[in-house]
Amino acid sequence: MPGDRGGGHADSLHSLTVGYDGRYGAIGPGCLSCHAGEAAADGLSDEYSLDEVRLGIGCAVCHHAHGALDRPRLVCSDCHGEGAFYHRPEDNIRHIPCPDGAAVKCVNCHMPLTGRNVGGYTLHSHSAGIVPPADTRRFGVPNSCANGGCHQDKDLDWLEGAYQAHYR
Ligand code: HEC
Ligand code: HEC
Ligand code: HEC
Ligand code: HEC
Repeated sequence: MPGDRGGGHADSLHSLTVGYDGRYGAIGPGCLSCHAGEAAADGLSDEYSLDEVRLGIGCAVCHHAHGALDRPRLVCSDCHGEGAFYHRPEDNIRHIPCPDGAAVKCVNCHMPLTGRNVGGYTLHSHSAGIVPPADTRRFGVPNSCANGGCHQDKDLDWLEGAYQAHYR
């Protein structure tokens, strides 16, 4: 599991250069298209070599940068494939417990609305992690499950139970 590493988008290049054991094959330009900021922001280019890159996945990879407004913004599936895990697609099957009809997206759970603005919560978390219901109990922050119209009618006991049942 990736839990034993630093992880996170900012570490995406670091994961290749420090302590990589070869589990997904040799490191080449194809890896950098998703793992290096320079290559990803350049239309997921596979023409960069390791000595030409130094950035992980930062703001300008997902967002239009100044002077390059014609560049399409990347979405999660550009790098994560059709599910959550590009390298371990077998783990995608049970990743989302919600019924298909709920049409829940990566951002709904991984970038919940946690920033308060005029009129309520309108800013998305950028940690890309999950805010489990237990964090609502501990720190009072809005969690990923009761977010953006989902499960907002459920109390914390229900949310924590459902989370434990599926993800632990
Ligand atoms: C440019 C390619 C790219 C895009 C676009 C991208 N990811 Fe990632 N993501 C990665 C890579 C590469 C890693 C692995 C980082 C590592 O551990 O080295 C990763 C790791 C993650 C992780 C695990 C680490 C963490 O931060 O908790 C989550 C969750 C995640 N991505 C969610 C998302 C979501 C949600 C989106 C869409 C908003 C998204 N990603 C868009 C490439 C991408
Ligand atoms: C992995 C992709 C990804 C990365 C990296 C990323 N963002 Fe975002 N950002 C998003 C998504 C997805 C949204 C919310 C949905 C939308 O607006 O389409 C968003 C929304 C925003 C917003 C609008 C307010 C909000 O929260 O909805 C701002 C401002 C923003 N991002 C700034 C940044 C900055 C600054 C960085 C670098 C520190 C950054 N983003 C890095 C994907 C990303
Ligand atoms: C299509 C985009 C893409 C390409 C190409 C890609 N990766 Fe990844 N990589 C990801 C994403 C997304 C993650 C986050 C975990 C996952 O999806 O399996 C990740 C995670 C990782 C991780 C850290 C987490 C783990 O599962 O160990 C390593 C190491 C890694 N990739 C190595 C490589 C290597 C080496 C190559 C080239 C042989 C490569 N990747 C090519 C998208 C990509
Ligand atoms: C219903 C909510 C939900 C949706 C939708 C969802 N995820 Fe997740 N995801 C989670 C939870 C919860 C975890 C943490 C599981 C754990 O800690 O055992 C997780 C873990 C991950 C991880 C591993 C993080 C790590 O550090 O090990 C990645 C990568 C990831 N999700 C990517 C995605 C992507 C990409 C999408 C969109 C295709 C997505 N997820 C959709 C709930 C969701």
